[in-house]
Amino acid sequence: MNNGIRVQVAPSLLAADPGRLAEAALQAQEAGADMLHLDVMDGRFVSSITFGPGLVASLSRNCGIPLDVHLMIEEPERHLEAFAAAGSHIITLHVEASPHIHRLLGQIKGMGIKAGVSLNPGTPLSAVRWVLDVADMVLVMTVNPGAGGQAFIDSMTRKIARLRAIIDGMGLGTVIEVDGGITPRTAPAAIDAGATVLVAGSAVFGQEDMAGAIRAIRGGS
Ligand code: DX5
Ligand code: ZN
Repeated sequence: MNNGIRVQVAPSLLAADPGRLAEAALQAQEAGADMLHLDVMDGRFVSSITFGPGLVASLSRNCGIPLDVHLMIEEPERHLEAFAAAGSHIITLHVEASPHIHRLLGQIKGMGIKAGVSLNPGTPLSAVRWVLDVADMVLVMTVNPGAGGQAFIDSMTRKIARLRAIIDGMGLGTVIEVDGGITPRTAPAAIDAGATVLVAGSAVFGQEDMAGAIRAIRGGS
């Protein structure tokens, strides 16, 4: 269902040792990660607090793979320029976090960066229908945001498939990324439904064979 597009794996640093993030990023890169997923949490949109543009800037100086920045923050408009200047390759905002999502996606693209829009599990696809043509990527949350290590919500597979049909029906190239509970066991359903970028935290970091874990999530390739 993903039209023969190569599946990409984006390990989430949320699952790495917070005191050794640079080292973990390089390990993931060497293990074959396609991108690095950076979960920014502000203690408001979600209760946890992680890191800000300073970490993104440091990783961008030391990493050779694209930085996929997932903003789980309120008032994202206040921070877009800082995350852009920090060297983000993709900035993804939550549709629930702003009534002006169309404008903000345009603003991100105007800074020469790819723009993504994310939906919580309870948010209907109709919330992003009218921004699909300005978004480079839709991030479908397959857990409720805020923490790693949660179980994949099975009903999200149908949501991914429906989104794939909408995007294909509109003739768009918008990428579908999935995030939360992705493991070698849950990845095939997400891929079959049409996701082409898979975020994985706990299924990559802490695994002895990180390269093998990434290959297993990608589907053996
Ligand atoms: C959850 C984050 C995810 C999380 C994924 O709010 O957006 O990126 O780190 O972690 P796992 O793969 O452990 O579910
Ligand atoms: Zn994430």
